[in-house]
Amino acid sequence: MNILVIKSSVFGDNGHSSSLVNDQVAAIQAQHPDAQVVVRDLSADPIPHLDGERVGAFFTAADQRTSEQQAVDDFSLALIDEVKAADRIVLGLPMYNFGIPSQLKSWIDHVARAGITFRYTENGPQGLLDNKSVTVVAARGGLYAGTENDTVTPYIKLFFGFIGITDVSFVYAEGLNMGDEAQEKALNEAREALQAG
Ligand SMILES: Cc1cc2nc3c(=O)[nH]c(=O)nc-3n(C[C@H](O)[C@H](O)[C@H](O)COP(=O)(O)O)c2cc1C
Repeated sequence: MNILVIKSSVFGDNGHSSSLVNDQVAAIQAQHPDAQVVVRDLSADPIPHLDGERVGAFFTAADQRTSEQQAVDDFSLALIDEVKAADRIVLGLPMYNFGIPSQLKSWIDHVARAGITFRYTENGPQGLLDNKSVTVVAARGGLYAGTENDTVTPYIKLFFGFIGITDVSFVYAEGLNMGDEAQEKALNEAREALQAG
């Protein structure tokens, strides 16, 4: 089994989402000692924001690209290869200012590639990746899950579904900034849910 671990907390492994992700990966490894784990830490190793030059590189035909443009394309394809190789993805997902970390958005901007991870057909968009599951560990200071203010859950489901990955489950650790007791309770419940799942 190949596991791709994506961490996006700006606090590195001190982030609650990263810490829960690490627990989850340890639990998977205990069950599958031969599991291969690839870690993509978007805080330690940030991905450049998508800009005109980078998107221009994507849209330029391979035989027309400059070496700089080819390097941008190669980098994006390397990120996509990590996803393709994974049987299981574990994503640490903090909420910052009502949304996903911008570091994670940059990753998404390099993975959502027309003709590579999705394509448009007469019947609409078609995802080109499959046979993978995603466990999302969502950490929030407040309470959002199940309310209309949680714009992150549908967005993440939409993104993975768009590239063909529909087996996406969420474990929430919420209320982390609502006092020590609430935080401990939320983290314990998230750990239990991850162990069960
Ligand atoms: C810059 C910043 C913005 C935040 N914005 C929100 C927010 O909009 N809603 C919320 O519930 N919590 C918010 N929080 C709290 C985080 O969601 C909480 O600290 C969570 O643990 C972050 O995950 P992490 O510890 O893995 O980084 C914010 C935290 C930071 C540092």
